[in-house]
Amino acid sequence: MNTRRIGNTEVSAIGLGGMPMSIEGRPDEERSVRTVHAALDAGVTLIDTADAYHLHADEVGHNESLIARALASYGGDTSGVLVATKGGHLRPGDGSWTVNSSAEYLRTACEASLKRLGVEAIGLYQHHRPDPKVPYADAIGAIRDLVDAGKVRMAGISNANPEQIRQAREILGDRLVSVQNQYSPAFRSSEPELALCDELGLAFLPWSPLGGISRAGELGSRFAPFAEVAAARGVSPQQVCLAWLLARSPRVVPIPGSSRPETVRDSVAAADLQLDADELAALDRA
Ligand SMILES: NC(=O)c1ccc[n+]([C@@H]2O[C@H](COP(=O)([O-])OP(=O)(O)OC[C@H]3O[C@@H](n4cnc5c(N)ncnc54)[C@H](OP(=O)(O)O)[C@@H]3O)[C@@H](O)[C@H]2O)c1
Repeated sequence: MNTRRIGNTEVSAIGLGGMPMSIEGRPDEERSVRTVHAALDAGVTLIDTADAYHLHADEVGHNESLIARALASYGGDTSGVLVATKGGHLRPGDGSWTVNSSAEYLRTACEASLKRLGVEAIGLYQHHRPDPKVPYADAIGAIRDLVDAGKVRMAGISNANPEQIRQAREILGDRLVSVQNQYSPAFRSSEPELALCDELGLAFLPWSPLGGISRAGELGSRFAPFAEVAAARGVSPQQVCLAWLLARSPRVVPIPGSSRPETVRDSVAAADLQLDADELAALDRA
């Protein structure tokens, strides 16, 4: 499979987003493990998770634990898999998502993630979402301290605007390797953040690249042109969508969510799908 870089680490050009396996509508664990194993079989070496990917209040880290179990039960070598987790979001159990970026909270959350993932240092730890009650510099300073303490190998940020990306870069320096923002055919407002990642040499991980779970991978309102290219190519519209995202910039590493082996296998094939200039121009205009 084609690869991309996140910091000093080479990863599969298509990653696996773990969220659908742990929140509303999640499958049973057996299907989730088969999904992760299918991803690994297909050459995926990047798995995105978060401590907040869970449903009930008493199961924080459901997705991290699931990913750790799936990696442990996989027959092959998983030493080259980068597990990217996040801290700073919480789910109280009523369906809502809340935030906490206090240094104390992030320190505790990181320790808990380390235990669940069963590692000495987290490969990529991403600040999940800015907390309006905590100055951004303080939150990112807490992430810097986690890297410096050896708890985290590389740092990322998520849901950040250009000003916050520059601020994080100033605080973290080379420790900052990635930005994870929402970006898909139907949601393109992160163009400035993507351009800034290109400028600064940061990986850009588009979240909900297929339009999100609630759309069941339907790509949203700009679906039609993607479906046309897909029909002409004999591939799925989701593959065309992911190939289009990869063509946006060599910094892009999409992390489509999956809860079924079939969808992960289909998405991974996008890593080797090269769209031509006419197709890309049509999709850019869509
Ligand atoms: N940083 C953040 O704030 C943030 C927010 C949201 C998400 N994320 C991350 O980004 C990842 C991706 O986002 P997402 O899961 O919300 O949405 P998404 O990737 O846009 O869509 C996921 C849905 O698409 C379906 N799908 C995936 N590949 C497909 C294919 N080839 N053909 C048909 N359907 C396909 C999946 O179906 P099945 O479930 O049936 O397999 C899943 O329900 C998440 O898993 C999570 O890791 C981060």
